Amino acid sequence: MDIKGRKAVVFGGTSGIGLATTTILADGGAEVVAISRDPSKAGALPDRVTTRACDVRDSAAMETLLAELAPFDILVSAATGGERAIGPFVEMEIDGFKGSFDKLWGYANVVRYGAQHLRDEGSITLVSGSPARAYPKDLSALSAVGGAVEALVKTVAREIAPAKRINVVSPGVIDTPMMVIEDPAERAAAYTGMTQDHLIPRAGLPEEVAQGLLFVIANDFVTGTIVDVDGGWLLSD
Ligand SMILES: NC(=O)c1ccc[n+]([C@@H]2O[C@H](COP(=O)([O-])OP(=O)(O)OC[C@H]3O[C@@H](n4cnc5c(N)ncnc54)[C@H](OP(=O)(O)O)[C@@H]3O)[C@@H](O)[C@H]2O)c1
Repeated sequence: MDIKGRKAVVFGGTSGIGLATTTILADGGAEVVAISRDPSKAGALPDRVTTRACDVRDSAAMETLLAELAPFDILVSAATGGERAIGPFVEMEIDGFKGSFDKLWGYANVVRYGAQHLRDEGSITLVSGSPARAYPKDLSALSAVGGAVEALVKTVAREIAPAKRINVVSPGVIDTPMMVIEDPAERAAAYTGMTQDHLIPRAGLPEEVAQGLLFVIANDFVTGTIVDVDGGWLLSD
């Protein structure tokens, strides 16, 4: 797919990986609608980008918004959805574990209400994360949600082929506003600690992940695929 002149809808497109994806698509000539609960947080956006407010967990609002934006060629979701529960599974509040699945329910709304409005030869891309297949201690919720996202994508790829495609990009540790530590030295130390055993021992950039998204969006022979942009986390000790 030549993305120039195409219409793209990017949930979570106002921050971090989603914002980098919004930008790389707009720079390539696509018209992009970037959506989140509070898009004003994005600040100045490139030309060809408009914003809308919507919570991906609100099924009725999602159905209405996607019908209004239809038809489109590119559908992306990087929206986190809700909280991320971290800690030993057996000590975890079960509500926190369940709440982490808001990411899956948001993605489910994106695909369920978006796929029907995708033009033929269109592409859907979701964002999972290395815990889906790295299984680190204390990240059981992220592993379980990420695994569910990747399984959903592979199943839906069968259902919507050959007219439409769906893929996953799986980031490792990426420097985005998701990291709540603001002090630069503390932030750098946190990323060093998280990535010191990785083959490429640093946090990735959202732009590096967006390049993975652009690849699966533009390549018409790629569907049901997981692209890891993780600095080798999956092979780390
Ligand atoms: N950063 C990492 O290290 C990393 C690693 C692995 C996987 N990931 C995954 O990559 C994706 C993007 O993460 P990021 O680091 O780019 O996060 P981020 O910078 O915090 O951006 C998250 C985006 O999602 C939107 N969002 C969150 N909940 C939403 C909801 N309920 N409805 C609509 N929009 C919502 C946010 O905007 P509003 O707050 O305005 O709604 C924001 O635009 C996530 O799925 C995350 O799990 C990230």
